[in-house]
Amino acid sequence: MVKICGIGAGYVGGPTMAVIALKCPSIEVAVVDISHSRISAWNSDKLPIYEPGLEEVVKQCRGKNLLFSTDVEKHISEADIIFVSVNTPTKSGGLGAGKAADLTYWESAARMVADVSKSNKIVVEKSTVPVRTAEAIEKILTHNSSKGVKFQILSNPEFLSEGTAIQDLIKPDRVLIGGRDGPEGQEAILKLKGIYDHWVPEDRIITTNLWSAELSKLADNAFLAQRISSINAMSALCEVTGAEVSQVSHALSKNTKIGPKFLNASVGFGGSCFQKDILNLVYICESNGLIEVANYWKQVIKVNDYQKSRFVNRVVSSMFNTVSGKKIAVLGFAFKKDTSDTRKTPAIDVCKGLLGDNACLSIYDPKVSEEQILKDLSLSSAATTTVKQVNIVRDAYEATKDAHGICILTEWDEFKTLDYQKVFDNMQKPAFVFDGRNILNVDKLREIGFIVYSIGRPLHQWQDNMPQPQQA
Ligand code: NAI
Repeated sequence: MVKICGIGAGYVGGPTMAVIALKCPSIEVAVVDISHSRISAWNSDKLPIYEPGLEEVVKQCRGKNLLFSTDVEKHISEADIIFVSVNTPTKSGGLGAGKAADLTYWESAARMVADVSKSNKIVVEKSTVPVRTAEAIEKILTHNSSKGVKFQILSNPEFLSEGTAIQDLIKPDRVLIGGRDGPEGQEAILKLKGIYDHWVPEDRIITTNLWSAELSKLADNAFLAQRISSINAMSALCEVTGAEVSQVSHALSKNTKIGPKFLNASVGFGGSCFQKDILNLVYICESNGLIEVANYWKQVIKVNDYQKSRFVNRVVSSMFNTVSGKKIAVLGFAFKKDTSDTRKTPAIDVCKGLLGDNACLSIYDPKVSEEQILKDLSLSSAATTTVKQVNIVRDAYEATKDAHGICILTEWDEFKTLDYQKVFDNMQKPAFVFDGRNILNVDKLREIGFIVYSIGRPLHQWQDNMPQPQQA
């Protein structure tokens, strides 16, 4: 019987291993992590991450062929195939600081694998890593392993999106497996392919060399983020020309060469991956002397930063150039709907920008905890109770009561169906709405009496006299 060990029980490792266990009942899957709190949450009724459908999968398999443990050594040593899904954040200091991927966690996982392995193993890179990382991992493994133990490294990057992770894993549009060219490398590829064969159609499994698989993941995220920055750049132009970004993106989406996905204008992209992976790509280009290529990808991030500051400036300039002491309701804090993840969420920059102008924020998100929001805004709970500049509340009506303005920062479905007449009646006047996700019916809100700013759409009559975006 094949045994699998997944190192790293995070947003990727947890759901990925759970779905393998679900689809391969004859395979034993152990998920290990150095974080005791994460593992005990995986073993409890309240999982450490929110993801639609995840709880059902975990409940079905946990205790049968899926287990969560902190006994990293034991499960590595027993496994035939080891998936490494540890975090690979951007380096905060030293060579490549602010751009290069920090492979500290990866290296320590690899050293642990080398130390405890007594039998041959396939080590699978699930984390997103710089191209040619497998070469370094191979060296660490072969120079530190017990005599005679052989390792094969495969690159099997994960393409799931948070919020639809389970669906993406159950019905992936592709599975990519990269390995060494020789017979041992090819044999390892076939072994991993044999796992996915349990539920993924053959034509969706792509095999490549190691470097193509590693680079494809960075390329994938860079291309997706580039589309968002492209449509966001268009949204700024729409606002000053009378074009409507939703109409422009609809027209683009019908071009089969472009297609409909990743064309929604918004306050900006977030999440743990896009910025980190593009910066990583930028660093690799710079390290190889490809400065123009590096600058090209850097611009994708610059446009994203511009979109966030443009939004803050719009809020302040619309509200008579001052938000000082005004209550602003922030609806949504997660980086997108259906996840509790706040890593690199645009809400952080928008909230910090508004706090910098002395606004008082009342924040509501259906799945993000108060503790997490305060941590992201670098505030302690003491600061919120004494200064009262930030309040985390339990529903959208409480957040908007007596507020001067509303900022929609995450596209949660429940914000589309609020009773906006009731919201309006309980707000200060004039009542402003800044829809950073373009989910609301602007005409209806204007009929109620709101002054509405929606990304990439002509301004409300009221706002025509306001400073134009180039000043904002
Ligand atoms: P995460 O931070 O949620 O999880 C990583 C886990 O690894 C943590 O629980 C940490 O305690 C654990 N860990 C670190 N070092 C360890 C070690 N030596 N032994 C055992 N456990 C260890 O990160 P997330 O979001 O799951 O991402 C993991 C990787 O997958 C990253 O490289 C990321 O770029 C990539 N990825 C992330 C996606 C996402 O949507 N979050 C999608 C596709 C890829």
